[in-house]
Amino acid sequence: MAHVSDLIASDIEEYLTQHERKSLLRFITCGSVDDGKSTLIGRLLYESKMLFEDQLAAAEADSKKWGTQGGDIDFALLVDGLAAEREQGITIDVAYRFFSTDRRKFIVADTPGHEQYTRNMITGASTADVAVILVDARKGVLTQTRRHSFLVSLIGIRKVVLAINKMDLVDFSQDVFGRIDADYRAFAAQIGLTDITSIPLSGLKGDNIVEPSARTAWYHGPTLMAFLESCEIDETRLQHGPLRLPVQWVNRPNLDFRGFCGLIASGTVRPGDRVRVQPSGRESRVARIVAYGGDWPQAVAGQSVTLTLEDEIDISRGDIISAAEAPAEVADQFECTLVWMADEPMLPGRQYLLKLATRTVTATVTEPKYKVNVNTLEHLAAKTLELNEIGVCNIALDRPVAFDAYEVNRDTGGFILIDRLTSNTVGAGMLHFALRRAHNIHLQHVDIDKAARASLMGHKPAVLWFTGLSGAGKSTIANLVEKKLYALGHHSYLLDGDNVRHGLNKDLGFTDADRVENIRRVAEVAKLMVDAGLIVLTAFISPFRSERALARGLLEEGEFIEVHVDTPLDVAEGRDVKGLYKKARRGELKNFTGIDSPYEAPENPELRVNTVECDAQQAADRVIERLRELGRIA
Ligand code: ADX
Repeated sequence: MAHVSDLIASDIEEYLTQHERKSLLRFITCGSVDDGKSTLIGRLLYESKMLFEDQLAAAEADSKKWGTQGGDIDFALLVDGLAAEREQGITIDVAYRFFSTDRRKFIVADTPGHEQYTRNMITGASTADVAVILVDARKGVLTQTRRHSFLVSLIGIRKVVLAINKMDLVDFSQDVFGRIDADYRAFAAQIGLTDITSIPLSGLKGDNIVEPSARTAWYHGPTLMAFLESCEIDETRLQHGPLRLPVQWVNRPNLDFRGFCGLIASGTVRPGDRVRVQPSGRESRVARIVAYGGDWPQAVAGQSVTLTLEDEIDISRGDIISAAEAPAEVADQFECTLVWMADEPMLPGRQYLLKLATRTVTATVTEPKYKVNVNTLEHLAAKTLELNEIGVCNIALDRPVAFDAYEVNRDTGGFILIDRLTSNTVGAGMLHFALRRAHNIHLQHVDIDKAARASLMGHKPAVLWFTGLSGAGKSTIANLVEKKLYALGHHSYLLDGDNVRHGLNKDLGFTDADRVENIRRVAEVAKLMVDAGLIVLTAFISPFRSERALARGLLEEGEFIEVHVDTPLDVAEGRDVKGLYKKARRGELKNFTGIDSPYEAPENPELRVNTVECDAQQAADRVIERLRELGRIA
């Protein structure tokens, strides 16, 4: 390694200790390759001398072979080389690079621009203190500069460096610099960014990167490195906030010790402090703070600790320990800003997992109130959010959680959404505020319950959920099953796709989003009917696993009986009772299941009937038999 300090050779222990004590600045760079981003980062890494000598040697050799800079080192090659090395074999979208100077340690998130810019930027920016936004001095503030700045402000970064690069190509003109600086400030004010430092630079030539440049004698501000080394970090702001400790893990090695471990998201804690555990609301006092090396007299935001409390109260992973005098809010419905990160569009009504601090719950998102054109900041009407789109939505959770507005605390107000089936992160969001209606609606107790009603029926209520392609035979079989149940004296009700679409769901079509909503409503109705004590039969294509899982999740164990009417596409198409397959094949009917809209077959249905191997009567008998086996009817 190139020596950054003589101490490395003479007193490595002392060097490492000094290193430990240095503050850490996280920053993100925004801009495209054309703006000279790689060159700029390469230059910073090089100047900080925290590069391995073999990497340098490789860059020098590469520069001779491919470099665009004559005999000089091509810093862009250096960065791209590091990226290639890191990204080998895995696809990461954000490269984090570490470097250090005598005064500070740095982590820079380098987010490749292009296609996935929103997702990458949100990922890279979520922990950053500072954003370095590059502009090309010849081009000034562009659409992408505005877009990057909007994302930066959304993520809550308050400090911006406007790196006006390639000053060598505009003869280090003070006028050009002044004009771009003024342009940018005018725009930034609209999105609430006010802490802006503009620096005239040449990443390529090294002007104002580390040493003040003689060629910008008119500029009296800091160099980029000087700014990064000295700017104030927000750490202390979080330390002064109220205590928030999201519980990561409950440590119970023996009966005498029960510790709650986690990273303090904000505030300061001392033994004796009164705390409230949320969402339960129970209060106690901190007994001990146990951390590295023993008991601590206090701990602050950014430190990982284990707390013990004076009282035995029930606390589990995901709870938040808050200052009793300034607790977090607790709610289950919110307004939020949502950034969509998946190729498949967001589906209002679908259940996603929501992870907020250390808590994971089930969430559904409403149709966006609007989406934002990130280039113009215009609000646009929207039914969904596509990849990289940003909108404001309401979100409902399956249980209350403790939270703060994102503005106040990124850790307890920022969340991600996860697809339940693939476990991919599909969105990131920022909570604005709790919806008040959530506080005003309570569950009403009723005395005659499901069990009481069912006892009159002589069966255990259940849903027979028939799923399969159009023309598979769902309605036919369900109809026969209902006749058999009737003959046996059971109360039942058949919810059939085509029929329900004439009434309750006549506002819905066949887009993915409409099918999600179709099934969500049917699942809720089926749940009410089970509560009424009935055996409910539903006959819907219900093509998505996710919504069938939702329906299952609304019911109690054993109540949901999934019947896959497993008819191959060619057989269903051959029958084509309604002539719809023909229409779909002719292109007159869009989004037809099996043709140009997917069907996700059940993986573990309670029953699978193959209508090629048996006729409808036999299939119906199998269903009745299965109901008996499962103990729903006698
Ligand atoms: S679901 O996919 O939302 O569950 P549902 O079962 O309610 O569908 O409705 C399916 C019925 O609507 C089919 O049996 C068919 O008669 C009719 N239909 C009309 N257009 C379509 C389409 N594009 N895809 C599938 N079914 C359609």
